[in-house]
Amino acid sequence: MRLAGVGQTYRGRGRRVVDALADVDLSVAAGEFAVIVGPSGSGKSTLLRIVAGFITPSRGTVVVNGAPVRGPGPDRGVVFQQPRLFPWLSVRRNVEFGLRGLDRAARRARASEQLELVGLADTADLRPYELSGGMQQRAAIARALAPGPRILLLDEPFAALDALTRERMQEELRALWQVTGTTVIFITHSVDEAAYLGTRIVALSARPGRVVLDLASDLPRSAEPRHEPEFVSTRDKVLELVRSAAR
Ligand SMILES: Nc1ncnc2c1ncn2[C@@H]1O[C@H](COP(=O)(O)OP(=O)(O)O)[C@@H](O)[C@H]1O
Ligand SMILES: [Mg+2]
Repeated sequence: MRLAGVGQTYRGRGRRVVDALADVDLSVAAGEFAVIVGPSGSGKSTLLRIVAGFITPSRGTVVVNGAPVRGPGPDRGVVFQQPRLFPWLSVRRNVEFGLRGLDRAARRARASEQLELVGLADTADLRPYELSGGMQQRAAIARALAPGPRILLLDEPFAALDALTRERMQEELRALWQVTGTTVIFITHSVDEAAYLGTRIVALSARPGRVVLDLASDLPRSAEPRHEPEFVSTRDKVLELVRSAAR
């Protein structure tokens, strides 16, 4: 995934103009777990919507898997802060939803496989409202992964979860990333989450968002990675830059 000179200016009603992103150059290699961190309003969701193909940027070029982005596609899966599951469909049907190109048996097999991966095999026949918030978000991740995207895009996916569930989901996402080999682009406003998850940490300044830090990170994955000195130093480095760029 490569962004070159990408900028976004929203033009609202009348003369209201918002400069959301300014001149972003960013390449994410296949297999990376890239975390984009920045204060609220720094254009993180805008960046994700551009890579997802939901909006065409005002300026610059976007290339995914070697081709210019012209809209959404099955090569990119998206997960939002809210699970956005269809309440009238079972969890299994929600996961099958993105697989309309396949025949019934293949859809079912693929959905079962994904539900197994996220630990929802036993709750496949429940409706979303019968699941906890964390389980709903697992279902949303399974749905996004089901078509086998090369890139998984997540926009603050754990921000609405309680602290313990959030930590669990972070571990699970790291594990999923390892087994699937999917490139991950993960958006958060939490510096801790960025330092914990990323093999690559990109920080955006306050609006209009520009890249103020691009850091490779390789934390030791011990029993308590958050206690490792590498975690603390990475987090402090990111925090310092995000703070000074937010002023
Ligand atoms: N569709 C839109 N129309 C006008 N302004 C928008 C739109 N979407 C976002 N913005 C503005 O662009 C800026 C960046 O928004 P966003 O990308 O959502 O930031 P973040 O996700 O980092 O909080 C904000 O000031 C926001 O109000
Ligand atoms: Mg956002």
